Amino acid sequence: MTSPRPCSAFAHPNIALVKYWGNRDDALRLPANGSISVNLAGLETRTRVTWDERRVTGEDIFTLNGSPVSGSGLKRVSEFLDLVRHMAGFDFRADVVSANNFPTGAGIASSASAFGALALAATHAAGLDLAEADLSRLARRGSGSACRSVPGGFVEWLAGSGDMDSFAVSLAPPEHWPLVDCLAIVSSEHKPTGSTEGHTLAPTSILQSARVADAEHRLDACRTAIRQRDFQSLADGIELDSNLMHAVMMTSSPPLFYWLETSLSVMRTVVEWRRKGLPAAYTMDAGPNIHVICEADSAAEAARLLAGIPGVREVRQAGVGGPARLAAPD
Ligand code: DP6
Repeated sequence: MTSPRPCSAFAHPNIALVKYWGNRDDALRLPANGSISVNLAGLETRTRVTWDERRVTGEDIFTLNGSPVSGSGLKRVSEFLDLVRHMAGFDFRADVVSANNFPTGAGIASSASAFGALALAATHAAGLDLAEADLSRLARRGSGSACRSVPGGFVEWLAGSGDMDSFAVSLAPPEHWPLVDCLAIVSSEHKPTGSTEGHTLAPTSILQSARVADAEHRLDACRTAIRQRDFQSLADGIELDSNLMHAVMMTSSPPLFYWLETSLSVMRTVVEWRRKGLPAAYTMDAGPNIHVICEADSAAEAARLLAGIPGVREVRQAGVGGPARLAAPD
């Protein structure tokens, strides 16, 4: 191979419209059900990877937002880099420098953009040029939702039958439907139970099997709503799907309660707005902040109204973003 060269890549986080919760195989991150998301424009992780040909033992170096990372954070990145080392056929240690342009703890899952950008930068720096599906499969191993940050726009993660066919594909480009995610931040505290642990608890809820059994039906409705740009159907589908996931979380053992009082009041208010004609719908991930999905024309009004709800600290807006991409060489 040619000598490894430093390489930088960008990826957006994404918000799931049909959620991933629970794995058939935790080690391979093979999901219990398929999921659909949109990438979030304007928010991104930039990651630079340099493989050091002089070092074939010892630890990788990982710097996140200007601070060195050790312990479990470094271990997760190094285990991911082991996959790339295996593909590249070398043992070089890596120097990884990563930064998010959005604050951690804002309710935006940074692991998706983190492993999307890392997968692209690390493989390219190793001289590997993976097809999109293979890059998505690789990103999945770092964080399940990261496979959806590889393709652009509206994205579906195909659950697949195994490692080879569990990856994400684009359903439509960003310009297909200019939706906006108005993120109402109600708390920036670190969540007590992270997603990786949460996925392992999903099968302990008696509701998970019913949620998974019906997933194909919800995915189908979501695909159709996106294709037809049918906001009312999308709204009904994403709120049901979010409620189902949180029902599983709240009935697992131990139970996981991600909602705060303000989260519930925002959800109720958004449903009321829609009844009165404002095209907006809520969805929540594994945290208390609420993503309010709007049609572009209504985003400014929704953001203004959200900011006025007691307990909402801040509202951020993001349109639909493109795929993971390489940065220009430094
Ligand atoms: C609630 O992808 O963060 O955001 O694979 O363990 O990294 P790991 O989990 P992660 O789980 C995301 C869960 C979710 C729903 C979703 O994004 O589909």
